Amino acid sequence: MTTAEYSQKLDTVVTELKTALQSATSSETVEALKTEYLGKKGSFTLLSKQIKDVDDKKEAGQLLNTTKQTLEDMLATARTTAAKKLAWIDLTMPGKKPEVGHTHPVSQAMEEITHIFEQIGFTRVRYPEVDWDHYVFEALNMPKSHPARDEWETFFVDAPVDNQMGKMVLTTHTSNGQVREMERLNSQPPIRMINIARCYRRQQDATHTQMFHQFEGLVVDKGITIQHLKGTLDYFAEQFYGPGTKSRIRPFHFQFTEPSFEVDFSCQICHGTGYLDDAETQKCRFCKSGWHEVGGAGMVHPNVLKAGGIDPDEYTGFAFGWGIERTYTLKEGLNLDDIRLLYSGDLRFLHQF
Ligand code: PHE
Repeated sequence: MTTAEYSQKLDTVVTELKTALQSATSSETVEALKTEYLGKKGSFTLLSKQIKDVDDKKEAGQLLNTTKQTLEDMLATARTTAAKKLAWIDLTMPGKKPEVGHTHPVSQAMEEITHIFEQIGFTRVRYPEVDWDHYVFEALNMPKSHPARDEWETFFVDAPVDNQMGKMVLTTHTSNGQVREMERLNSQPPIRMINIARCYRRQQDATHTQMFHQFEGLVVDKGITIQHLKGTLDYFAEQFYGPGTKSRIRPFHFQFTEPSFEVDFSCQICHGTGYLDDAETQKCRFCKSGWHEVGGAGMVHPNVLKAGGIDPDEYTGFAFGWGIERTYTLKEGLNLDDIRLLYSGDLRFLHQF
């Protein structure tokens, strides 16, 4: 092969790379082209091996060197251009909106519940979520080894036992706030407390989480009757669930109230009828009976008033307490079949509220 022929072949490689680099916009493509031309099996490398067939090897060697230099220069320029492209910023482009967060649905419910009760003169308080047996059980008319204690699936804290206060437990209900509130007010009614806090029980399934929230109402004054309790429940039902919602109380038993009740609210979907149509052929699948059970209530037991230093002959009171998660998920349209979702931390779920 003559030097001229060899030179022409080398020129072709240069032209090819030039064309290829014109459409190479990213650093990755530039690097790929480098391998394609200068790599072990690259077209330039293969051509350089043909030097043995050229007549004038000295001249051919010089040609090879300059061509290699040209190819490397072209690649270097293309590399810089690609890097500059990456760093280029269009300052006139509209900005990216940062995502705006919002409070957790359970926090929203707590704020709403607080607001509803503040309207009628209740004060929001918070009491310990790790508390003494005394406030969680003993002062609530549940003496040691009383079977009623078994209902509360209690977590006990591995801490020294106090002579007067007993063991330390994770609060199983917000009722621990009752005697604490009486003490805070130096046993001087009137008391109108709304206590919202975390509670813990050893149970977990689709409708229970080991950690949940309760809100507890306590009213103590002269002449407080069941009528006041019922009126307060009806007021809450209408405020929280909407006009027309009714409350219902059914006889029950708690150690710390006498009489005691379970509290139901009429269903939002079927308006308490249990049916979706007037002919009563289609059962409401949300409630099945027209009512949803939400929690407990009752007239404060005289022993509890005494534990808080209040004379039960002079004062009476009512108390109620139930779960925030359950109360919240009963809201119209929110047919949540697994409350554990509330604590899954899954933003796809939380964004909906
Ligand atoms: N503490 C009870 C529970 O967790 C509810 C309750 C509160 C009942 C106040 C009566 C009075 O189930």
